[in-house]
Amino acid sequence: MLIKKTADIRSSQVTSKSLYLDRRKFLAGAATLAGAVAVGGVACVSAAAPEPTQGGQKLPGVVKGQFNTDEKQTPYKDITNYNNFYEFATDKYEPAALAKSLRTRPWTVKVEGMVQKPKTYDIDSLLKLATLEERVYRHRCVEGWSMVIPWVGYSFSKLISQVQPLGSAKYVEFTTLNDPAQMPGVRYRVLDWPYTEGLRLDEANHPLALLTFGLYGEVLPNQDGAPVRIVLPWKYGFKSCKSIVRIRFMDKEPATAWNKAAPNEYGFYSNVNPNVDHPRWSQAKERRIGEFFKRPTLMFNGYRDQVASMYAGMDLKKYY
Ligand code: MTE
Repeated sequence: MLIKKTADIRSSQVTSKSLYLDRRKFLAGAATLAGAVAVGGVACVSAAAPEPTQGGQKLPGVVKGQFNTDEKQTPYKDITNYNNFYEFATDKYEPAALAKSLRTRPWTVKVEGMVQKPKTYDIDSLLKLATLEERVYRHRCVEGWSMVIPWVGYSFSKLISQVQPLGSAKYVEFTTLNDPAQMPGVRYRVLDWPYTEGLRLDEANHPLALLTFGLYGEVLPNQDGAPVRIVLPWKYGFKSCKSIVRIRFMDKEPATAWNKAAPNEYGFYSNVNPNVDHPRWSQAKERRIGEFFKRPTLMFNGYRDQVASMYAGMDLKKYY
C-alpha cells in the first residue's frame, strides 16, 4: 500500500539512497566523500533567454531575505533529484525526469473566494508583485529526512494584502494543477487529486510563509514545484503545495490531500514537533540529506520564536 511504502522509505532507504546519490557523484568525478562538496547552484544552467522562465535560469533582482539559517546548504543536485511530487511519481528519483513534461508558461493562478479583489494572476505578473528574497530555510519531511534550501520568493502576505480577504475569511486553500496529459502520476488514484493543502489565515499571513519561485537564485526546476509553490518551514514538507493554480480564501478549514488519505496520520496543522510521533514512527530525529548520523528535530523545525505564539493554548497532540 502506498502510504506504507512512503513510511518504509523514511529511514534505511533514505540512508542508502543518499549514499547512492553520493556514489553517483563520486563516479561522475564530482565529489569524493559524502557531504564533502558544497555545490552552489551549478546544475541545469540553460542557454541565455530573455525571460527567466525555465528551471535553472537566473532570477533577477533577488535580495538577501530575513530568517536565514547559516547551516550548510544542501547541494542543488540533491534538492532537485530527491523529490516528493506524486503527480509525477511516488518514487523520489523519478520526478526530476518526468516533470520535464510540465509546461510552466503560460500559467495562471486564480485567487478567489472570500476576498474583496479576486484576481487571476499571470505567473509573470505574480513574480513581479514584490521584491524577490533569498530565504535559506530548513525543510523537514514527515518521513524523517531534511534539507537546507535557499529558496527565492516573497512573503505570501504580500499577495494576501493585494486581494484583501473579507472579515469572514479564516482559511486559505492551495490547489495544484491536475492534468493527466502532463502529469503521469495523476492517472493513478494514489491521492484524491488535485493535491490540496491549507492554512489558517494567520499562518498564511506569517512572514515566514514564502510564495516561492526559485532556489539557489534560479527559477524553480519543475520537480520542485514550478512555476510557483508555497514554502512553510515550520511545518512538515507536505504542507508546501507545489505548482499552484488556485488559491481560495474560505471560512471553513479546507480538506487537504494527505489528511483525506490518512486522517489519523496527517493532521491539518502538521507543525514539525519532535514530541508528537507519527503513529508509525518517531519524529524526534531526522536525517539531513548528505549526512550519516541523525540529528535531533527541533520544535517547529527551529522556528519556535517566530511561530509558537500562533498555537498558544492549543493541545498540539490533538491538533497535529
Ligand atoms: N505538492 C504536490 N502538488 N504534490 C506532492 O506530491 N509532496 C509534498 C510537498 N508538496 C507534494 C507537494 C511533500 S510530501 C514534500 S516533503 C515536499 O513537497 C517536497 O518538496 P521538494 O521535492 O521540493 O523537496
